[in-house]
Amino acid sequence: MNILGIESSCDETSASIVQDGRKVLSCVIASSGKDFEKRGGVIPEDAARKQLESILPVVEKSLRDASLEPSDIDAIAVTYGPGLLGSLLVGTTTARTLSLVWGKPIIPVHHTLGHLSSTWLLNADDAQRATAVDDPQFPVLTLSVSGGHTDLWYRTAHTRGQLIGHTIDDAAGEAFDKGAVLLGLPYPGGPALSALAETGDRTTYEFPHPLRHAPFSFSFSGLKTSLKYLKRNLESTHEWNDTVRRNVASSYESAIVDHLVSRLEHALTAYPGTKELHCVGGVSANRVLRERCHDLGKKNATRVRFPETLRFCTDNAGMIASAGYFLQRESPTIVGSSFRTSGSLSLQSVTKED
Ligand code: KG4
Ligand code: ZN
Repeated sequence: MNILGIESSCDETSASIVQDGRKVLSCVIASSGKDFEKRGGVIPEDAARKQLESILPVVEKSLRDASLEPSDIDAIAVTYGPGLLGSLLVGTTTARTLSLVWGKPIIPVHHTLGHLSSTWLLNADDAQRATAVDDPQFPVLTLSVSGGHTDLWYRTAHTRGQLIGHTIDDAAGEAFDKGAVLLGLPYPGGPALSALAETGDRTTYEFPHPLRHAPFSFSFSGLKTSLKYLKRNLESTHEWNDTVRRNVASSYESAIVDHLVSRLEHALTAYPGTKELHCVGGVSANRVLRERCHDLGKKNATRVRFPETLRFCTDNAGMIASAGYFLQRESPTIVGSSFRTSGSLSLQSVTKED
């Protein structure tokens, strides 16, 4: 079954064709992120305008790259929320139009369910050698860490399970992005802060350990405030220089990762039936987080998976096509159902409790 996925919730315009939920035949991503570098963040109206310019060329290229015709597509999966409403509407309007013109069913997908599915994606070349044994095994514990979300999920199937923890303030990606602004780095801050941190010593500065008594919840705003005051103090005592800046970046990154990993450690103890530990979303591209998750997996004899390539960590339509495939398998009534594009869809609708 070939599903065309469309994702346009923020500043990425993406279309992808995925076969049977796993094999990525094409994945095209156009990003307007560079336009926002100097402005320190996405401007919603500008992002929506860019989506409008990119969407049709991106869909056409996804068909060309996969050497397929519209008649080869079985269904269209589209992100219907949450995200920037103007950007989302470009994707859902395009999907509705193609669905009518091509006569194909439409599958509305929650952006977060897309990220949760990203560990199922395989580049077409690798899919040839992948066997059924390689399919991820439920129950899966998934840490979803992006610029908008930091959630922990325990799932017994793609759409079954529960949200066991979430952030009470900023998301992990926001902690990276806001920290990067304080350190004078360009938007989006995660990759830049992480690159600077690679050159520093992570043991130099101690940051607080948030929410010691709420082991499944996340909080990052205190870390960001500590960074702000640490920098201010170091500047006032004339200690702020390039080496200090690198060490601060490294210690700050380490504090964010420590906080994330401490929640995973707790969850593995609380959910001993867990077969696999997955980490998805933009922040799952982070090298230190990857290392620490692999160490945790080894310690607990639990298989650890990240999205196969970095482009599947950040927003992409492959994950939406994959989620659409598993959604129609587990909840067939979702296909072709009427839906309302929404900027603020709740996380509760991602899974049903067992
Ligand atoms: O999933 P995503 O592309 O978009 C959202 O749905 O938010 O995630 C973007 C976030 C940004 O906050 C970005 O700074 C962060 O992911 N990010 C990283 C890295 N690469 C991207 N954070 C830490 N280290 C990275 N290497
Ligand atoms: Zn995302």
